[in-house]
Amino acid sequence: MQWTRRSFLAAPAALALDGGAPVRKTPLRARHFGPLYYDESEWTFLKEVWQTRSPFRFWNFENQLPDKVATLEREFAQKMGVKYALAVNSGTSALEAALAALEVGPGDEVVVPAWTWHSCFQAVVRHGALPVCAEIDESFNLNPARVEAAISPRTKVMMIVHLQGNPADMDRLLPIARKHGLKVLEDVSQAVGASYKGKRLGSMGHIAAASLQVNKTISAGEGGMVYTNDPRLFERAVRFHDVGALRRVHEDWLGKGSLESVPGSNFRMNEFTGAVLLSQVRKLDRIVEDIRAVARRVYQGIADLPGLKTRLLPDPAGELGVGVYLDLGSKEARDLFLKAMRAENVPASPPSGSVVLPVQPYAEKKLTLHPEWPTFRVGRGPEIRYGASSCPRTLDVLGRFGGVLLDPKFSEADTRDIVTAIRKVYPQVAGRTSG
Ligand SMILES: Cc1ncc(COP(=O)(O)O)c(C=O)c1O
Repeated sequence: MQWTRRSFLAAPAALALDGGAPVRKTPLRARHFGPLYYDESEWTFLKEVWQTRSPFRFWNFENQLPDKVATLEREFAQKMGVKYALAVNSGTSALEAALAALEVGPGDEVVVPAWTWHSCFQAVVRHGALPVCAEIDESFNLNPARVEAAISPRTKVMMIVHLQGNPADMDRLLPIARKHGLKVLEDVSQAVGASYKGKRLGSMGHIAAASLQVNKTISAGEGGMVYTNDPRLFERAVRFHDVGALRRVHEDWLGKGSLESVPGSNFRMNEFTGAVLLSQVRKLDRIVEDIRAVARRVYQGIADLPGLKTRLLPDPAGELGVGVYLDLGSKEARDLFLKAMRAENVPASPPSGSVVLPVQPYAEKKLTLHPEWPTFRVGRGPEIRYGASSCPRTLDVLGRFGGVLLDPKFSEADTRDIVTAIRKVYPQVAGRTSG
């Protein structure tokens, strides 16, 4: 269908909210990407693990070396354009292992976006270090114009989280990190497969962490990856994830290890998970291509809407396109947009998949596992204040934006319905205030 100038001039169609006919008869729902692509290949790899009875990645009783997780690591590293990748059991474990690799500990500060997943804050606290929240902008990522306000002489790491498929503005953030001598930890959990100006996310900082939990681009339900070009960081992450050990598979990769064993944890991935993820990583490019095509159709279909303000995309070509978000101008108009879209059977949502960290009760109350935990007792820990007053811009952005989550298998008819619903609802509610 073509939209012409005449369709703008015609009287607006009655919103379903006001009793008009909805755009769709049944609701449209975005599903988890990875499992949508499960087929014989995941099944074949799983059967191989089962048949060889070797679910543990580092050995089996026949002394044959299992290969699913090890191959996954090699292929993931190659796909991300880095030298080394370590498979772990979750994105949270990946963050903890990456922070361990960077030797983050008591007295150190880590800058995190005020809007991201709980794990970004909690992994820092678990290392005894202090998370300092920085405001986001209309990209929903760290605001380069505001991030320096969160940096102090004690800051060791800038955690750049690429949220909801959208690469952060690396051209502006990386020089700030360099200027202050900070290590960069990229959290790619919500944007696996996306890139920034031709470089895969996670390949531009010192080290990267990714989640492969079910909401992410590829998944075995749970899983995570740590990846880097730096052999020392890799060795530290490997040792941390496996109670201090460096085993043959990784030694073969690194050459002889150069570090001493330190106490760590057990974040190892098992071969069944590796089987599914090895199959999934080979499908990553196809999934990314599909979701981008869906997003492109929606963006193109609404591009000529007068006054349209969409989410800021520092590199539109590299974005995944997991959702299309619009600035409605106020929280009131945004909430009305969401309600009106849902009535059209095209479910819309506020920015999702993350939380405003400074307003989480555990942050506001500075809770830790033990009363002597160093996080809020050393360095600037006693002074720091979280809460809504520490992130007004973040709350403002998240209040104004609403959008539609996408699914890589949405048909052309589905995306046409999304476009039709936005074209019907947006002009009638954007910027609307009471009265
Ligand atoms: C940005 C970000 N970081 C880390 C994580 C943690 O991943 P996991 O749930 O696999 O532990 C998530 C999960 O949603 C996330 O969105």
